[in-house]
Amino acid sequence: MHSFKELIDLFCERFNQPQFPTAPAGLYEPASYFLGIGGKRIRPAACLMGNELFGDIKEDCWQIATAIELFHNFTLMHDDIMDKAALRRGQTTVHVRNGENTAILSGDVMLVQAYHCLEDISVEYQSWILKLFNQTAREVCEGQQYDMDYEAVKEVSLEDYIQMIKLKTSVLLAASLKMGAIVAGATVHNCDRVYSFGKNLGIAFQLQDDYLDCFGDPEKFGKQVGGDILRNKKTCLLIKAKELAGGPQKQALEDLLAFQPETEAQQEEKVKGVLDIYRKTGVQEVTRALIEQYAQKAMNHLDQVVVVSTRKQPLQQLAEYLLQRDY
Ligand code: IPE
Ligand code: IPE
Ligand code: MG
Ligand code: MG
Ligand code: MG
Repeated sequence: MHSFKELIDLFCERFNQPQFPTAPAGLYEPASYFLGIGGKRIRPAACLMGNELFGDIKEDCWQIATAIELFHNFTLMHDDIMDKAALRRGQTTVHVRNGENTAILSGDVMLVQAYHCLEDISVEYQSWILKLFNQTAREVCEGQQYDMDYEAVKEVSLEDYIQMIKLKTSVLLAASLKMGAIVAGATVHNCDRVYSFGKNLGIAFQLQDDYLDCFGDPEKFGKQVGGDILRNKKTCLLIKAKELAGGPQKQALEDLLAFQPETEAQQEEKVKGVLDIYRKTGVQEVTRALIEQYAQKAMNHLDQVVVVSTRKQPLQQLAEYLLQRDY
C-alpha cells in the first residue's frame, strides 16, 4: 500500500513523459507547457487511492488516472479564458501567452487525449467508467455555466453556490475516487460511499480555494489573489459578507460590486475594499467553519466504507492535505 504522497510521485513519473507529439507545435506546445508548469495531481492520486483501498493497483487505473488529469487540465485551460485569469500555477496562462484561439484548441486536444487513454481499458468495466466520465464532464460544464451566470446575478443563495461548486469541482474528485473503486471491483455500497466522501471533500476543497483566492499567499497559491473579487464571483465569502454586513458596510459592498475597475490601481482599490469588508464581517471564520463541516461529512462517509480501516489512511492523508491552509 502507498501513502498519498507516494502515489502522487508514482503518477508523476509516468505522467511527466511526453503526452503529446511535437507537431504542429502551435497546438501541442501550449498543451505540454500547461502540463509542465505543475499542478498538485490530486485527482489522479485520488483515483489510484480509490483503487488501492480495495487491493493492488490495476494497470488500467494508471490510464484512467491519466485521463482524469488531462481532463482536469482541459477544464483549467478553458476556465482561465472564462475567468480572464493571467496566472496559473505561478505562470502565465495559455490564453495570455498564446492567444485565446490556441487556448481553446489546445484545451480541446487535451480533452480528446483524455478519452484516448480510455480506449483500451478492460471491457469488464469500460462502459461504467465511460458513463461516469461523461456524466461528470457534463456536470462540470453545468457548474461552470452557473459560475459564469452568477457573475451577473445580484443575489445568489448559499444553497445555489454549494450546488454550483458541487458541479464544477466536487463531482470530478468524487468520480476520480469512484473510478478507482470500480476498477477494483468494489461493491455498489463501497463505490457510493467513496463517491460521497469525494463529493463532500470536493466541496470543502472549493470553499478553501475561494478562501485562498482572497487570503492565500500569492507565492503558494499561484493565481492572482483577488481574482474572484474582480470578476464579482459569487463565492461563499461574498454571500456571507452580504448577509452579515451592517447598513453602511452593505452599501459599501454594493458600490464595490458595481465598480468596474479599468486601471491596475483601481483593481487594487476594489480588491482591498472588499477584503476589508470580509475581515470586518468575520466571513473568514464562517468559511472555515463551513469547510470543517463538509470535511467532517466526508469523513463520516469514509467511515462507512466496508474495508479494514488501515487501508483508509491514504484517503485521510488526502483530506488533511487538501484542507491545510497553505498549499
Ligand atoms: C484548481 O484545481 C481548480 C479548482 C477546482 C479549485 P487544483 O487546485 O487541483 O489545480 P492544480 O491542478 O493543482 O493546479
Ligand atoms: C474552477 O473553479 C473549476 C473548474 C476549472 C472546473 P475556479 O475558477 O475557482 O478555479 P481556479 O481558482 O481558477 O483554479
Ligand atoms: Mg472559474
Ligand atoms: Mg478560475
Ligand atoms: Mg478559484
